[in-house]
Amino acid sequence: MSTDHNREDDTAALVRAELIRCGAPRRHVSRGDLNRAGERSRWAETLGRARERCDGRGAILALIGPRGTGKTQIAVEVLRLGAGARRTVRYAAAMDVFLDVRATMNGRGRSEADAVAEWCRPSLLVIDEIQERKGSGFEAGLLTHIIDRRYGAMRDTVIIANVELAELGRLVGDSAASRINETGGIIRCDWPSFRG
Ligand SMILES: Nc1ncnc2c1ncn2[C@@H]1O[C@H](COP(=O)(O)OP(=O)(O)O)[C@@H](O)[C@H]1O
Ligand SMILES: [Mg+2]
Repeated sequence: MSTDHNREDDTAALVRAELIRCGAPRRHVSRGDLNRAGERSRWAETLGRARERCDGRGAILALIGPRGTGKTQIAVEVLRLGAGARRTVRYAAAMDVFLDVRATMNGRGRSEADAVAEWCRPSLLVIDEIQERKGSGFEAGLLTHIIDRRYGAMRDTVIIANVELAELGRLVGDSAASRINETGGIIRCDWPSFRG
């Protein structure tokens, strides 16, 4: 019995290490006292839906709504399940994706196409804070392109934005937003904040 427990602890520790390695915020990775009941039960419900959807068939899931409702935490728990199942996982803030691709534009080292291909490779990718961009057409196009390529390759993508529904189209393009909407992939996280 105690050996089983030790093995579980070891597995959980390995998964935590993998989540840190893949870019997930340490704060969310090490959080152990998650509230799954009470007035925030919609958090747990949403986590259940998100985990179900991200089953390796090219889901695009958008978590939108105000700050503090646990969107990043939900995404990290989806990654935790994925990493535990030995899927390749990755977490990034949208700005990190933009900076990574922009960094290739000096013409040395890897190409822009290589950088985009790398973002398309993980089986499960979370792109957080997609409202954070300078509004350039290049960045909107890049995000849409990565989301579309991943959808085509049947890889799951979770995008997170602190915006209202009407604004999602501005961030990912109207066609991607309506595809996500039609497939039931937009979840509004508008319950009370965990930050109080
Ligand atoms: N179910 C939960 N139970 C307890 N604390 C939570 C839960 N979900 C998130 N938190 C904590 O609340 C804070 C805000 O959550 P976060 O995921 O960062 O929100 P958001 O990304 O929506 O702004 C974080 O410190 C997070 O660890
Ligand atoms: Mg967040």
